[in-house]
Amino acid sequence: MTDKQLIEKAIKAMENSYSPYSGFRVGAALLTAKGDVYTGCNIENATYSATVCAERTAFFNAISNGEDEFTKIAVVGSLYSETTEYCYPCGVCRQVMSEFCGDGFKILLFNGKDIKECTLGELLPHSFGRDDLCE
Ligand code: THU
Repeated sequence: MTDKQLIEKAIKAMENSYSPYSGFRVGAALLTAKGDVYTGCNIENATYSATVCAERTAFFNAISNGEDEFTKIAVVGSLYSETTEYCYPCGVCRQVMSEFCGDGFKILLFNGKDIKECTLGELLPHSFGRDDLCE
């Protein structure tokens, strides 16, 4: 699976975005260590707070299908709007990623033109995880 193919899957997943309130469409494609891909889109809600981001939808989709090892996620946001900004994962999604992935987990961002690659360790340094809990 090339980076371009993973991004294409994220773009395809964005088509299913349910975002009537923000109009901001997001798609994500998560690559497992085995080489399978699970996708997700953002799903909004009239309460606003019940909204789920595309990244978490992809993770929960994969985990609920028995996956537990991940190498990379591609994220695309509102390619069809006028923005060419990258759609960085929100803080909650970064925290969810850190539950299942190490600092080296790759995050691919596509703004409709260019690809930017970063790691979870760069986006969420000094994270709080299971090792920080006292038992
Ligand atoms: N959103 C995502 O799906 N992923 C992100 O990384 C940032 C934000 C969604 C949530 C909401 O539906 C919309 O974008 C506006 O915040």
